[in-house]
Amino acid sequence: MAAPASFSIHSPLRSSLRIPRGRNCSPPGASSISLLPRGLRSSSLGRIGFSCSSSDQILTRVAASSAPVMDPTKGEVALKVPTVVDVDLGDRSYPIYIGSGLLDAPDLLQRHVAGKRVLVVTNTTIAPLYLDRVVEALTRGNSHVSVESVILPDGEKYKDMGTLMKIFDKAIESRMDRRCTFVALGGGVIGDMCGFAAATYVRGVNFIQIPTTLMAQVDSSVGGKTGINHPLAKNMIGAFYQPQCVLIDTDTLNTLPDRELASGIAEVIKYGLIRDAKFFEWQERNMEALLARDSSALAYAIKRSCENKAEVVSLDEKESGLRATLNLGHTFGHAIESGFGYGQWLHGEAVAAGTVMAIDMSYRLGWIDRSIVERVHNILQQAKLPTAPPEMMTVELFKSAMAVDKKVADGLLRLILLKGPLGSCVFTGDYDRKALDETLLDFCKS
Ligand SMILES: NC(=O)c1ccc[n+]([C@@H]2O[C@H](COP(=O)([O-])OP(=O)(O)OC[C@H]3O[C@@H](n4cnc5c(N)ncnc54)[C@H](O)[C@@H]3O)[C@@H](O)[C@H]2O)c1
Ligand SMILES: [Zn+2]
Repeated sequence: MAAPASFSIHSPLRSSLRIPRGRNCSPPGASSISLLPRGLRSSSLGRIGFSCSSSDQILTRVAASSAPVMDPTKGEVALKVPTVVDVDLGDRSYPIYIGSGLLDAPDLLQRHVAGKRVLVVTNTTIAPLYLDRVVEALTRGNSHVSVESVILPDGEKYKDMGTLMKIFDKAIESRMDRRCTFVALGGGVIGDMCGFAAATYVRGVNFIQIPTTLMAQVDSSVGGKTGINHPLAKNMIGAFYQPQCVLIDTDTLNTLPDRELASGIAEVIKYGLIRDAKFFEWQERNMEALLARDSSALAYAIKRSCENKAEVVSLDEKESGLRATLNLGHTFGHAIESGFGYGQWLHGEAVAAGTVMAIDMSYRLGWIDRSIVERVHNILQQAKLPTAPPEMMTVELFKSAMAVDKKVADGLLRLILLKGPLGSCVFTGDYDRKALDETLLDFCKS
């Protein structure tokens, strides 16, 4: 297949948040903002703590978070009701609910459950922390639903065919039929595996994502890429399969290890760099709050990331071009992950170093200012993320891994590079090879 022509992206963010009809409590200037999910019944409002008067404050805060000139970390009130970001994919559209305490909001989950049988897929780390609450949320006031769970071993190395089979084993043993719902409770590994199981079990069943890592909340749970690894290649077997909803309880991040949190921040930074300069500037001002797990800073970062991803996915679901830009730093990053050995560095750590390399190359090509290079270094250092590949990486290791990258077309490696002002990027194979060689030589000892 011929490589598509390269193209550049610099699109202003289109907010997909809405004000629900009849409940417009927004202050002046808070247009296109909603805190309520589509169709949220009034009976459920009390349970998730919504009230019009307190929402005025909250709305102001959310409005602030949607208007990048204002700083949402300055206020006192944390988000306690869900923000909704829509992923607009025609009849496969779905909401992403974001907020604190959402695991205790049964209506949100139950409205998206099809049939009477639910299979929760999780792992040995997350089950003791959150499984009971999810089962309770699925069943409270809803006795005709029965919930089974399958608890998988934890780790990227189990994102394989053998572990996938355990999901099918449990589903078949439990007599799950076509009208059942699979619920992914965990990070990206669980989300990708459960999604792929849902895509293929009896040729497709309902699927709900409850992501519990920042990486999964800002990236992997949104957009419908599901799959497992092959021993020879990561994420090589999979399907595009969209969930019925994504439910993000920001409180789950309280138990996440620091290193995992920083790994997710690498993807947040990515959105700013490729398409949302104002968001990047906000991150520069609020990195400390994010690392300190300030709940409103995290909620804002997740919302803005999901908005960016939702917009890209709705324009290019199957990655014919635009969606590839979400892979800034990933070609170098994947080379680090495979060269260094999976699991040595977390995905976000490898992406951070890869981003620095992509930006170095963009600068060598004369496509960006020096100031952008410096700002990227600074923000990654602030986030305690690596700014160079591990010392064992060689030019040869990079080149051999990059040769099998999914973005190679007709032998040509296409890369996501920054070009122009902050927030603009290109996905292209049309660059001077010398710049790539120089970047590799500069970052590798041999
Ligand atoms: N589908 C996509 O579009 C997409 C995008 C990005 C990444 N991914 C995939 O996602 C995976 C990486 O995801 P990840 O970074 O979430 O890793 P992960 O799923 O391995 O989770 C990281 C670790 O955190 C633990 N954990 C999860 N939530 C926790 C919580 N709330 N408290 C305490 N511990 C918790 C997990 O058990 C695990 O040990 C990779 O397989 C990658 O390929 C997919
Ligand atoms: Zn990534």
